[in-house]
Amino acid sequence: MTAHQKSESIRVRKGGRPLAALTAYDYPSARLLDEGGVDVLLVGDSLGMVVLGFPDTTHVTLAHMLHHISAVARAKPRALIVGDLPIHTYASPAQALATARELVAAGAEAVKLEGGIRQAEKVRAITQAGIPVMGHLGMLPQRVLEEGGYHKKGKTPEQTEAIREGAQALIDAGVFAIVFESIIPETARQLSASLSVPTIGIGCGENTCDGEIAVITDLLGSYPWFVPPFAKPEADLADGIRKAVTQYVARISGPKV
Ligand code: KIV
Repeated sequence: MTAHQKSESIRVRKGGRPLAALTAYDYPSARLLDEGGVDVLLVGDSLGMVVLGFPDTTHVTLAHMLHHISAVARAKPRALIVGDLPIHTYASPAQALATARELVAAGAEAVKLEGGIRQAEKVRAITQAGIPVMGHLGMLPQRVLEEGGYHKKGKTPEQTEAIREGAQALIDAGVFAIVFESIIPETARQLSASLSVPTIGIGCGENTCDGEIAVITDLLGSYPWFVPPFAKPEADLADGIRKAVTQYVARISGPKV
């Protein structure tokens, strides 16, 4: 399937079987998640935190993204590979398009960027060049420093209206889906019901959007030092890794003296 056919297969899931999306940052996890049947593999800039050890996503560079997108792409997944445009790489429509082309050259089949009305012209430039775009509204992690933390969105009618206007501007510019991050459940549900493209929620409550996305380390329990309150781990890999290493050390080095 072409990138366009894959993104179109996501777009037409609006109102149908909920979409299951996960982040992936490397070759083996991309293969395993794809074998598990996920619809979308997002090479998210969350890699800055859960892979590279930065405090937030504002430290992620284009070089980081290209390195990890190409690793995921080598897995040749059936799932759609979406790559995040990192901060400071989409200040104008021309720069957004140039960055999107670099991500595609590295193996992304679609790109994602954060923000609403102020990004619409950039989204249009990218979609008109034939590259599928996913939007991202609600809490925008690339703005965490300006906002002084991670706060819930859509709590007031004004905030809800701003998200709705942003979503409509993105849809008019051609996005095939929109990530909703940390929007309160009632608002996420209401907006999802009224928009024409699938919404993919994280931190928005259960069954409020057309699908969900999770950061893979939250799902696997492999990043125990920060677990968001909305995370629903399905495994405890951190514990498994610690036990395996302890047993290895005991087997090789014997009891501690
Ligand atoms: O970077 C990321 O992982 C994301 C998800 C939180 C949607 O943007």
